[in-house]
Amino acid sequence: MIKRMLIVTVVPLLLIAALAATVAAQSTGDPVKGKAAWDAANCKSCHGPNGEGKFAGPRAGDGKTAADWIKQVRTPRANMPTYSVEQISDATLTDMWAYMQTLPKPTSFTAYSVPVPATDPVGKQLWSQKRCEACHSNFGQAMIKARFVDQNRDVSTEVVLKQLRTPAKAMPSFNATQVTDAQAAEIAAFIKTQIAAIKATAAPAAAAPVTVPKTGGDLSLLALGGLSLFVLGAGLALRARR
Ligand code: HEC
Ligand code: HEC
Repeated sequence: MIKRMLIVTVVPLLLIAALAATVAAQSTGDPVKGKAAWDAANCKSCHGPNGEGKFAGPRAGDGKTAADWIKQVRTPRANMPTYSVEQISDATLTDMWAYMQTLPKPTSFTAYSVPVPATDPVGKQLWSQKRCEACHSNFGQAMIKARFVDQNRDVSTEVVLKQLRTPAKAMPSFNATQVTDAQAAEIAAFIKTQIAAIKATAAPAAAAPVTVPKTGGDLSLLALGGLSLFVLGAGLALRARR
């Protein structure tokens, strides 16, 4: 009887307490952890190291709720790419949000972008417009060298689409409204020209390998070595006899 009363009253109380604690943790966040996470994640590439705004608007003191932030990151309103739960958890987002609310809201902001002349390739213009530049600065030179030139991989629309829709690791995804398939094709074409340009400027292939002696050469060298050893041995033997 007492046991049952305990179960009926204490268990729900415990559950409520646990739930309240979770909700509290979720809606308050830890600004210290949030600072480290903001520095480590790529949010800063677009929103600025201190949330002061850069390629995208300021986040410092933005007065939004943690729930607003989570909604934006999972289902962005317009041009921001999407981060999955595996990439950044809700708890980490809440920490970042808490940290940003401790910083002063900037009094003014002008979006930063790298201008591209209208006569330049469409893919290059898209690189700037779509904010690929925020993470892949200098029109992706470092990424293109590391991922394509150095690995001797070629690019194609499929490769770009795969990365945009289902990124390998840390890159947030861009959906078909944010970057259309046709735009991905333009970007792929641009990357292709960059691969070629990087290859062309790279130092001419390090001194052609020294002609390797053919098997015959090897054998004659061996024979020569053997012969000299024999002569040496014979000489020594003769000397020892005297
Ligand atoms: C590639 C650039 C880019 C990156 C990276 C990025 N954002 Fe954004 N973010 C944007 C843009 C652009 C907007 C404005 C949304 C729009 O177009 O209306 C935005 C808006 C927001 C907003 C405001 C939404 C609203 O309700 O007004 C929040 C919050 C936000 N971002 C959080 C983050 C967090 C957290 C991260 C990292 C996990 C992040 N962003 C990474 C580009 C970016
Ligand atoms: C928030 C930062 C961020 C933004 C914005 C971003 N990228 Fe990336 N990108 C990455 C990271 C990090 C990688 C390394 C691979 C990974 O973690 O997925 C990467 C890798 C790539 C790769 C190499 C994929 C491969 O097959 O090796 C391509 C191509 C690429 N990005 C294209 C783009 C394009 C196009 C845009 C703009 C539409 C863009 N990225 C915007 C962070 C970003």
